[in-house]
Amino acid sequence: MARALAAAALLALWLPPAARAAPAATQPASSNAELSFAENVYVKLSGACRAIVDLRYSSQKDQGELVKSMKIVQLVGSELRTFPIDSAYRSLTSTLSFDISKQTKVIIHGFNDNAQSEVPLELARAYGEKNMFNVLLVDAEELLNKWYPLSVHNARAAARRLANLLANLEQHGAAAADLHLLGVSLGAHVAGWAGKYFRLYKGRKLGRITGLDPAGPCFTHAYSDQRLDRHDAEYVDVIHSNRLVQGVIEPLGHADYYLNGGGPHQPGCAAPSCSHLRAAQAYAESVRSPRAFVAVRCADWQHFLHNSCGTDYSVMGYGSSFTTRGQFYLRTNPDPPYGMGMNGTVYKDKVKSTTQKWMEQLNLIK
Ligand SMILES: *[C@@H]1O[C@H](CO)[C@@H](O)[C@H](O)[C@H]1NC(C)=O
Repeated sequence: MARALAAAALLALWLPPAARAAPAATQPASSNAELSFAENVYVKLSGACRAIVDLRYSSQKDQGELVKSMKIVQLVGSELRTFPIDSAYRSLTSTLSFDISKQTKVIIHGFNDNAQSEVPLELARAYGEKNMFNVLLVDAEELLNKWYPLSVHNARAAARRLANLLANLEQHGAAAADLHLLGVSLGAHVAGWAGKYFRLYKGRKLGRITGLDPAGPCFTHAYSDQRLDRHDAEYVDVIHSNRLVQGVIEPLGHADYYLNGGGPHQPGCAAPSCSHLRAAQAYAESVRSPRAFVAVRCADWQHFLHNSCGTDYSVMGYGSSFTTRGQFYLRTNPDPPYGMGMNGTVYKDKVKSTTQKWMEQLNLIK
């Protein structure tokens, strides 16, 4: 996962000269005036990446075989059952281990990753321990392990196929509101597109999509139909942990949570991929420990660092309320358990300096 998504700057190296000069036709005409220099560069590279995807792959229609290679992995107890996606509907609905009346959690891996790597499995196991949900993992390894721009192109085909399965499950009796997609990195945009296709097919929205540090390259400042967006489900919550490197810059959901300011660097991490995956690891922890992460609504990280955020608190992750709106900030520990409870809503150095001031005043009195 670390490899090709690495630094956004690497994007520049991929691009043939013609594409570098290509007008950013797919970039929305939003005001970029308030962006920093680094953000501006990132936005331009992302636009160029989309131009590559459009120019090189828009006519490519031979994804059929790759889509057929997709699999659905069902977690039953500690056992993983793998079905080709074409037979998944029949297999799931004919087994007692899939309970159509329960909520279904669908975990989607990212670029250069697979359904049974550590982080997606950790999420699945955390849900599995509750014995309350159907837990599925999407395996789109063949589609999402290509050259990054081609993987981005394939992500949409993966999402369409997944939406088809979800629509069939809904036809069979699953409530759309009980379908919750969780996407890691590029998987977050797969989830977004699956939500768009589901809405197209069924005329209603999925219950929830959770974006776990949605991929930034190719998606930052894209139009809402080109990436995960708050309209893709009844509730879209997003956790940011590696902004400006592998993660998207801007808020995408109804509620956006910024771990330690959203990164790019997370405490205890050296490699960007470590920071990138921290969002998913924190989410998995929240499933087991629902009150571990409390965030506070804030204008930005600078305000957080000055402890001037107000008192609009929100639980992040598993326990996040569907009515939450806005941008929320929190601190986390460098090692598991990452959650700090309410302590995470306060900037520590500020607390210390307040205490110091207080002591200074005492000294003055003395
Ligand atoms: C919050 O901070 C207090 C005081 O430092 C500490 O005793 C407590 O364990 C902390 N709580 C969490 C959840 O880390």
